[in-house]
Amino acid sequence: MGELIVLKLGGSVITKKSENKMEVDLENLQRLCRDIAEIQKKIKCNFVVVHGAGPFGHVLAEKYRLTEGMKGKESVKGMCETHASMEKLNAIVVEELNKAGLNAMAFQPSTGVMKNRRLISFPIESLKDLIALGITPVGYGDVLVDLETGLNILSGDHLVPYLAVKLKASRIVIATDVSGIFDGDPKRDKNAKLVKEITKENFGKIEVSGSRGVDVTGGMKRKVLELLEVASHGVTSQVVSGIKPGELKSALLGREVGTIIH
Ligand SMILES: Nc1ncnc2c1ncn2[C@@H]1O[C@H](COP(=O)(O)OP(=O)(O)OP(=O)(O)O)[C@@H](O)[C@H]1O
Ligand SMILES: [Mg+2]
Repeated sequence: MGELIVLKLGGSVITKKSENKMEVDLENLQRLCRDIAEIQKKIKCNFVVVHGAGPFGHVLAEKYRLTEGMKGKESVKGMCETHASMEKLNAIVVEELNKAGLNAMAFQPSTGVMKNRRLISFPIESLKDLIALGITPVGYGDVLVDLETGLNILSGDHLVPYLAVKLKASRIVIATDVSGIFDGDPKRDKNAKLVKEITKENFGKIEVSGSRGVDVTGGMKRKVLELLEVASHGVTSQVVSGIKPGELKSALLGREVGTIIH
């Protein structure tokens, strides 16, 4: 068995997040699926794929104010609606990965339990068994029971480092709609410069904010904080563009593109 890579496909890449439309960006998704299948053949690695939400999750989560936790019947309804919407997106991602030649299978992150926005348990053994069969498990940002707040959103950006540590992955690769992490939001500031390397030492000097689209889980800032934490467990992450053709492939082949967090 080759190395295990935990890969996040950002909702900003695979959906029409910037237009706030609950639609899949099939062109991006299919290109990325082909790239992932090609790399798996080439370097014989295993993947766990986690995809983001875009409007499929963020819009409903905002509508039902799910980040505020359990507020009664409406929250329960919102939890189910948001989960169902993410399942629809997940089914499309799994289908496209399989069409591209992988053996992909969905897993439901809502089988885990959180406490104060952090996962405290997850059925990790079943993922290990799937990976041992050469299957690519495909999960997503989901809504979970939270022992402190009743319910909560599990961001894909939290799930990715959690799985990487528990599954002893060799690295994390995150595909989003910008070419890495810049010293300011590149969508607001044209002069923002790419930061090629982030460590605990230089993080304080970088202006990282949320997302321009609707994003209830903290956008890019949360991503970097989560990835810095996982770096202390020895897992290196790379944030690259999933929109620029070839960039994800380069990262998977180990080339220094985008931002490396270690
Ligand atoms: N310093 C920064 N460098 C790069 N991007 C930044 C920075 N600050 C803010 N951003 C914003 O972060 C966005 C990417 O985060 P976002 O959460 O929207 O994407 P995603 O995680 O791929 O989507 P989803 O949450 O739906 O999975 C970029 O579009 C950019 O506008
Ligand atoms: Mg996000």
